[in-house]
Amino acid sequence: MANLKVNVAGVEFPNPVIVGSASPSMDWIGVKKGIEGGSGGVIVKSLFGEKGKLGRNFPRPRFKLYDYKTYPGYPQSLPHAFTLNSLEECSHFGYQEYMEDVNRAKDAVGDKGIVMASLSGVTLDEWQEMVGLVNETNADWVELNVSCPFAADMGVKMGAGAVDMTADVVRTCANLLKKPFSVKVSPQTVDQSSVALACQEAGAQCINLSARFSGFDLDIDQARPVGPGAQGGWGGPYFIGYGLKNCALAANKLSIPIIAGLGVWDWRDIIKYTMVGASLVQSGVGIMLQGYDVAKKWNEHISQWLDARGYSSLDDIRGIALPNVLKTAQVERAPEGVYAKVDYDKCTKCGVCKRSCFYDAITLTKCGAVIDQHKCDGCGMCMEVCPANAVSMTSPQKRAN
Ligand SMILES: Cc1cc2nc3c(=O)[nH]c(=O)nc-3n(C[C@H](O)[C@H](O)[C@H](O)COP(=O)(O)O)c2cc1C
Ligand code: SF4
Ligand code: SF4
Repeated sequence: MANLKVNVAGVEFPNPVIVGSASPSMDWIGVKKGIEGGSGGVIVKSLFGEKGKLGRNFPRPRFKLYDYKTYPGYPQSLPHAFTLNSLEECSHFGYQEYMEDVNRAKDAVGDKGIVMASLSGVTLDEWQEMVGLVNETNADWVELNVSCPFAADMGVKMGAGAVDMTADVVRTCANLLKKPFSVKVSPQTVDQSSVALACQEAGAQCINLSARFSGFDLDIDQARPVGPGAQGGWGGPYFIGYGLKNCALAANKLSIPIIAGLGVWDWRDIIKYTMVGASLVQSGVGIMLQGYDVAKKWNEHISQWLDARGYSSLDDIRGIALPNVLKTAQVERAPEGVYAKVDYDKCTKCGVCKRSCFYDAITLTKCGAVIDQHKCDGCGMCMEVCPANAVSMTSPQKRAN
């Protein structure tokens, strides 16, 4: 059986799955459930400093799921591409209650998993004060959260609105922290990996790249944002492409371990993140919508997958995809001989392919969709849209003259 243990900054995590700092980790009961559900660690919902305390109360309701309940077969089948928009900033606790709750969580969890406190300040004084308090708790780990997508919209300099302060925060806190720690950096910047590198140079022991983006949808009848009416966080499986890219870019630059995430929905996503360099992989929406126990299932699948391929641990696959992630300029351009072909046993003559072919290469006949090879660009759109999976693409060598 493959070994799923991961050692990060001297701390041994029983497995790579981390419950992200969010509603499921709002208090010690959630932390306990997270570890009992099979996760290796839980990042407690972030404590905001006093200047950001407005965020300790949340709008109601505050969640909006896009393309979720409409999925055919729901709730027996769940979609693999949807988005959650939410406006829920930080822990509802003040400083003292938070520290007491973290201690309670560690008492409840014992050595079965890693309890990770999460702090988010506005001024450096606030950061220092919170670090002083968390040092005295039994937390196994501390996360400096400089990533909240929308907290700065409360009118304070924090989260994604304080990207320019990230390295200063790290420098200040690294000197005071008595525990292993990670820094959660925002993707809402031109180059998240450069911010991560600056954190490493400022003393960070681990980087968490899993933060969400901010935005809003618009209700056109009311001409106002959907939900609470302001910007909120956007995440969920739809965003995994951003997360994988950001992890790969950072892994090529950093020598410290990475906690990755954004869009984790099943066990394959955890393998993907590991292959682009992550040591730990966290989930927010995945746990929120599939429940704490999904972590157990994910770990079982990961073990089976590693065993079946002869890997003995996650170390064997960490970063193995990085050499295959090409620079845009390295991608092969305009290969000859690639065009669409139709399997007439499958084609239902629905015409869906024709309306999406912008090279005018498809004619609908009584036999089905006919491809004009001289017009076909080989773009592959018809194959993607065909409901009957009747279209495939030829390989470059097979082009007829
Ligand atoms: C409802 C909700 C609340 C969140 N609260 C926090 C928080 O307090 N601190 C934090 O660092 N991240 C917070 N996050 C972000 C998650 O920790 C995590 O980075 C993100 O959800 C990962 O993306 P995913 O949901 O696509 O897995 C929150 C996310 C959600 C959905
Ligand atoms: S979309 Fe598929 S099934 Fe429909 S006409 Fe085109 S090839 Fe045939
Ligand atoms: S591969 Fe592109 S160009 Fe060729 S038939 Fe399909 S949609 Fe048209």
